[in-house]
Amino acid sequence: MKPKVVFVCQECGCQAPKWMGRCTECGAWNSLVEERVGEPAPAAAGGTTNRYSQLGASGSAKLYAEVNLADAVRLSTGIDEFDRVLGGGVVPGSLVLLGGEPGIGKSTLLLQAAAHFAREVGPVLYASGEESEHQIKSRGDRLGIGDTPLYLLSETCIERILEEIARLKPSLVIVDSVQTVFSIKFQSAPGSIGQVREAATQFLFAAKGQNIPTVLVGHITKDGSLAGPKVLEHVVDTVLYFEGERHHSHRVVRAVKNRFGAASELGVFEMTGTGLRPVANPSKLFLSERATGTPGSAVLCCVEGSRPLLVEVQALVSVSTYGNARRMAIGFDQNRVSLLLAVLEKRAGLSLAGDDVYVNIAGGMSIEEPAADLSIVAAVASSVRNRSLAASTAMFGEVGLSGEIRGIPQAGLRIREAAQMGFTRVVMPASNIDPGESVSGGCELVGVRTVGEALDQLLT
Ligand code: TYD
Ligand code: MG
Repeated sequence: MKPKVVFVCQECGCQAPKWMGRCTECGAWNSLVEERVGEPAPAAAGGTTNRYSQLGASGSAKLYAEVNLADAVRLSTGIDEFDRVLGGGVVPGSLVLLGGEPGIGKSTLLLQAAAHFAREVGPVLYASGEESEHQIKSRGDRLGIGDTPLYLLSETCIERILEEIARLKPSLVIVDSVQTVFSIKFQSAPGSIGQVREAATQFLFAAKGQNIPTVLVGHITKDGSLAGPKVLEHVVDTVLYFEGERHHSHRVVRAVKNRFGAASELGVFEMTGTGLRPVANPSKLFLSERATGTPGSAVLCCVEGSRPLLVEVQALVSVSTYGNARRMAIGFDQNRVSLLLAVLEKRAGLSLAGDDVYVNIAGGMSIEEPAADLSIVAAVASSVRNRSLAASTAMFGEVGLSGEIRGIPQAGLRIREAAQMGFTRVVMPASNIDPGESVSGGCELVGVRTVGEALDQLLT
């Protein structure tokens, strides 16, 4: 039988029977690549022809009350911050995808975690398609990895890696990276969408079938999507992203999907000469270089996952020398900044026409939650009026189009973090304060209802 050929878009995974210059699904140009569909797999032991059938081995349905949660143990990687993003440790049989730009520290983190895990739990297989055993070991020496049952395998063939997994029966498998491995069943090059999808599927079988937790490393392209993109996210149990700027020493690992824990959970690390060091108190790190007493700087209490975090929001407003004013935001949605500037002009009487406005979340953090609105508005107003905000004041709150300050979730958590970091005053949505409450944890709570009220309280 002639092998079937399909053309697969490398951007979105859409398949077409013939080559086209442009994907009809996502509109990407020149993204279709020829792939051969694999020969049907030989019949599995049970006489079924579908190789996927081995996944559903559990048989009959169970009563809700009879499902025993005590089976759901968590295995610690020995790195607190990494355990935290995983939702409390590695779940046996889970498949985790760790994505990030090249050079951000994925291999370093996983090698450190692998060494700990091998020492505490059991043997670990670290399969790398990128580096030789020598290279991995010389990195390990720098990280101070001693004698542990850590097996290194420099291999790119998935079937070979699976053989080693079957032979060693490790407690954890790491595959670095999913874009460098290939299956002999496919003709296409490693890193193509068919190979990446096959790799994820095969390792999923291994993880579920033998109850071995597996971590796949995935490289991210410049535009932020996993190369061999979204096809992996729904296959794996947990998707973690490594964020941070190469020029800053700190790194953030964020869970964007987790079947076993809170999504958007955050782990903070610092890259040092001897590997990644967990940062137990990230607020301290993010505020460490804050210039107090300068206009245009505000402190925001945000919450990422279950973790409160204080970050500095900076704004700079300057007269535009060229015709059209520039509006720029780093670490925050640009459109939202434009919206907030419009609210400031209309509802608080600030004139920004003809001014360049720059907004920056200090330390390379990126923030999505609308609770940051108030701090952005405050930082911009502070810069426009050239008056600094009180150094001991923190804030949070969403800003609506009518200039109202809206309540946000988890206010208590934010206040506690501010108090712990030595702030004495928190400006926040009035609707988040219980009647009669004006002090919490040593922090004065100032409830505000409108942008105007907030600016009166903040810029005295
Ligand atoms: P790496 O883990 O190789 O990145 P990835 O696997 O995500 O591509 O990290 C490489 C970078 O980390 C490299 O630029 C050097 C830096 N680094 C340190 O600063 N300290 C260290 O101890 C190690 C091992 C790496
Ligand atoms: Mg690497």
